[in-house]
Amino acid sequence: MANPRKSRDPQTLRPATRLVHGGAMRSQFEETSEALFLTQGYLYDTMAEAEARFKGDAPGFVYSRFSNPTVAMFERRMALLEGAEAARATASGMAAVTAALMGQLKAGDHVVAARALFGSCLYVVEELLPRFGVASTLVEGANLAAWRAAMHPNTRCAFLESPTNPTLEVIDIAGVAEIVHAGGARLVVDNVFASPMLQHPLKLGADCVVYSATKHIDGQGRTLGGVILASEAFINEHIHNFLRQTGPCLSPFNAWVMLKSLETLPLRVAQQDRSAGQIADYLAGHARIARVLYPGRADHPQRAVAQRQMASGGTLVAFEVKGGKREAFAMADALSIIGISNNLGDAKSLITHPETTTHQRLKPEQRAALGIGPGLLRLSVGLEDVDDLIEDLVQALDKAAEPRRSAAE
Ligand SMILES: Cc1ncc(COP(=O)(O)O)c(C=O)c1O
Repeated sequence: MANPRKSRDPQTLRPATRLVHGGAMRSQFEETSEALFLTQGYLYDTMAEAEARFKGDAPGFVYSRFSNPTVAMFERRMALLEGAEAARATASGMAAVTAALMGQLKAGDHVVAARALFGSCLYVVEELLPRFGVASTLVEGANLAAWRAAMHPNTRCAFLESPTNPTLEVIDIAGVAEIVHAGGARLVVDNVFASPMLQHPLKLGADCVVYSATKHIDGQGRTLGGVILASEAFINEHIHNFLRQTGPCLSPFNAWVMLKSLETLPLRVAQQDRSAGQIADYLAGHARIARVLYPGRADHPQRAVAQRQMASGGTLVAFEVKGGKREAFAMADALSIIGISNNLGDAKSLITHPETTTHQRLKPEQRAALGIGPGLLRLSVGLEDVDDLIEDLVQALDKAAEPRRSAAE
């Protein structure tokens, strides 16, 4: 399938070029766009060839639960982007997180994780793993001493997101990696909020990076998907067999959508990141906003760490409306361009109220510890004109502040 005419080593290309050309394989038809191989299986010329492919002695595809040309192109392009030796695609971000953890753990092991995790990740760490004899400890992610104290002799793995959802706390990935490695364990980083354009956990010392490709990678609200990236040895030892035998694979169609999305990822994230910075600065000066949390701002609590490990502030902004739940709801309900949704990383700007949606399962004291108050809103900044977004936010804040009409009126 490879085209020998164009054989420049993709490692020598800059990221934007890798994302257009990297990982591509052409069929005999010399198509310009990557081909979509909707096939479950593959034919072998002879029984001997089938035997060789099954043994891994001959190259080629065997069965689409674990290898498909379109999915392989997506995996290769993602590996080139991340600077990883290997990548495996999954049906969703949660499939990637679950495989990255379960693939390397067994009964008797212990996991340390930052307590500010996406709800389903928290379920995997706190409820699912313990059912299989894997104990877990949750720590305050920004506190390196807490990571150090939580390491046990049987700690095999640590897990974190940075920036965190929804308060955009920034965790020192290199600092945690050092502690985890000193304890003989491995670090898995969920890099969804930063996106692969703005943060490179493998370069900071992580052993494995996972993505919900559903977010910035698709970036246009269409398909679910996930990716696991690591060294060849990590993937071979912990991930490949787990995925092959349990089957949470990415469909070739979704892989094809994601491949096309990667071509525009740098442009989209750069624009969303620029707009998010402008919106954060605008909201910080608004009289009806109590506080803004944005890793690109000088007043962010972990500003120094953010500057060290992120190329920029990111595409999400968290802010607290003065008052509480009533004011936050009234403001979000009054928006006319920005949609109410728990999703993120989309071309469309989306807003969510974490206390009552994504984090409603947490106990009040857990939410308080994470800084999730009744007035907190999380905005995922899209590709609309930033002036339209700011106007929308301002008119909604004004409307929310209007005195409520009494029932008698
Ligand atoms: C930080 C984080 N990790 C993982 C996931 C799970 O991704 P998916 O919805 O693709 O399963 C999400 C989804 O919102 C997320 O925000």
